[in-house]
Amino acid sequence: MINLKSILENFQNDIDQAKTLDDFNRIKGKYIGRKGKLNELFKEITQLSPDEKKEWGKKINQLKELIESQLQEKLNELTHTLKPSKTVDISLPGKKPWVGSFHPIQITLHQILSIFQSLGFRIESGPEIESEYYNFEALNFPPDHPARDAQDSFFLDQEYLLRTHTSPAQIRIMKKLQAPFKVVVPGKCFRRDAMDASHSPMFHQVEGLVVAESVSMGDLKGTIEVFARRFFGNDRQLRFRPSFFPFTEPSAEVDISCGLCQGKGCRSCGQTGWLEIMGAGMVHPKVFEAAGYNPNQVRGFAFGMGIDRAALLKFGIPDMRWLFENDMTFIEQFHAIQ
Ligand code: PHE
Repeated sequence: MINLKSILENFQNDIDQAKTLDDFNRIKGKYIGRKGKLNELFKEITQLSPDEKKEWGKKINQLKELIESQLQEKLNELTHTLKPSKTVDISLPGKKPWVGSFHPIQITLHQILSIFQSLGFRIESGPEIESEYYNFEALNFPPDHPARDAQDSFFLDQEYLLRTHTSPAQIRIMKKLQAPFKVVVPGKCFRRDAMDASHSPMFHQVEGLVVAESVSMGDLKGTIEVFARRFFGNDRQLRFRPSFFPFTEPSAEVDISCGLCQGKGCRSCGQTGWLEIMGAGMVHPKVFEAAGYNPNQVRGFAFGMGIDRAALLKFGIPDMRWLFENDMTFIEQFHAIQ
């Protein structure tokens, strides 16, 4: 009694495991080759009666056709990796790979830096962990200044803290470079502020510093004006308010007119019509001394602006916390902006 069913099962077992064309050819030979199993069967049935021969011959031929069609299928599978199959409809449009977007802070930073680069500024950096000397003392903060208090800053030990602003980079860069130079220094800063709609204990600043034989408050004003108009738009007004920083003299706070109410006064600008965008001023002689410069031979101006706040203003984001929550529905809205 010839067991065709077990031959078919053995074949299917073998062909399922075939991974290469070599496997395929070996299995093909084993079943339908010249000395293969099916030819053996054809030989065996020559002993049978004509009627039985006819019946078995038909069955073996059917088995041969089945094996051949399964071999063909396997061959397709091995030679065409993109073969159409029952589970993949190749006429459907492809799946789009997920592509991330830049964070609004990075977009804002990039725009700010490229404006200053176009004005001839070079980009520098400074460490996020600073000594009290660079963060305060060299910048002319008096020893009892409240910002030096652990209540306001993240101190790591007696000497080191997370920088509270990017201004310590002023000293490092003056020591490293020879005047004249124009630099911008972007980076993270840290203050012990509670997180709310307009504060974050970690935030970003861009420091600007220009040192040359003679630069004036007029150069400072002109530079900031060019920047602010390019970044916020030509329709914005600028205002320089007298202010105080230990490391600049004179010092100013720079405001732009509110874009929401066009300076008329609304909730977003606290009814003043103005929004503060940065601190600025002429480099203090004590700062030049700390950096090893003779304050009688050089002049400089500096400015420092918050990038996070600039991002809120630029994109009309009402709450700073949105920048740091990493909510994809929020972040993905910036997909098209570079
Ligand atoms: N470092 C100051 C701040 O964080 C800003 C500033 C920078 C002011 C440079 C004047 C000059 O508030």
